[in-house]
Amino acid sequence: MCFICLDSVSFTYEGKKTPAVNDVSLSFAAGESVAIVGLNGSGKSTLARLMMGLLRPQKGKITLSDRPIEEYSLPEIGRKLGFVLQNPSLMLFSTSVYNEVAFGLKWKGKKRQEVEQICYNYLSYFDIWDLRDELPFNLSQGQKQMVVLSAILALEPECLILDEPTKNIDGYRKKKLKKLLLDIRARGIGLVIITHDYDFVDGLYTRKIYMADGKVMADEH
Ligand SMILES: Nc1ncnc2c1ncn2[C@@H]1O[C@H](COP(=O)(O)OP(=O)(O)O)[C@@H](O)[C@H]1O
Ligand SMILES: [Mg+2]
Repeated sequence: MCFICLDSVSFTYEGKKTPAVNDVSLSFAAGESVAIVGLNGSGKSTLARLMMGLLRPQKGKITLSDRPIEEYSLPEIGRKLGFVLQNPSLMLFSTSVYNEVAFGLKWKGKKRQEVEQICYNYLSYFDIWDLRDELPFNLSQGQKQMVVLSAILALEPECLILDEPTKNIDGYRKKKLKKLLLDIRARGIGLVIITHDYDFVDGLYTRKIYMADGKVMADEH
């Protein structure tokens, strides 16, 4: 069974002549770990937004667990897929770091004690527990990245899509993130990591997709 399936998918942004994603067909199995690489502007982030249902293809079909993605609501997709955008600032909306992580957990119906425990586990893992009462808006880019990652990882989706997760973070946090992702992978959660950082992604994937000009140029297992 195909977890996420793209069948001849194309997407062109309004006002653009060339498609950002051009006739892409890909299938991802449940629990697969994939690296997506390619130069800036090759369509990686657009592909990720399509896979998350945040953009609708003008051509082609996308299915999630064999059901057309347009039939899902965004919260339904959120239960299956966790997505960390290239720009973490766009994902922050709460008045405190703590609430940023707690929000989704409460929404999932977790009990208060459990919410506190999970928030503590992730925020302390990334050394930002001391910042729990801060306004996320005021944090550094790297700290924001850690908050967003904590919030998404805490929800334990079936698959995580990370768009340039190491862009703003230092070597120490990179190592910690990698350790956590190895653990997540070992638990059978799917990983799709978009990156330029070959050192970081080394050992985290079994399949590498190379994109150029909106197309898949290579798909190596
Ligand atoms: N919001 C947008 N509006 C218009 N064009 C965009 C937008 N986002 C990306 N593009 C264009 O789509 C193409 C692919 O971009 P993107 O998916 O961001 O690639 P990558 O993530 O590989 O750098 C580029 O030509 C880029 O300029
Ligand atoms: Mg990008």
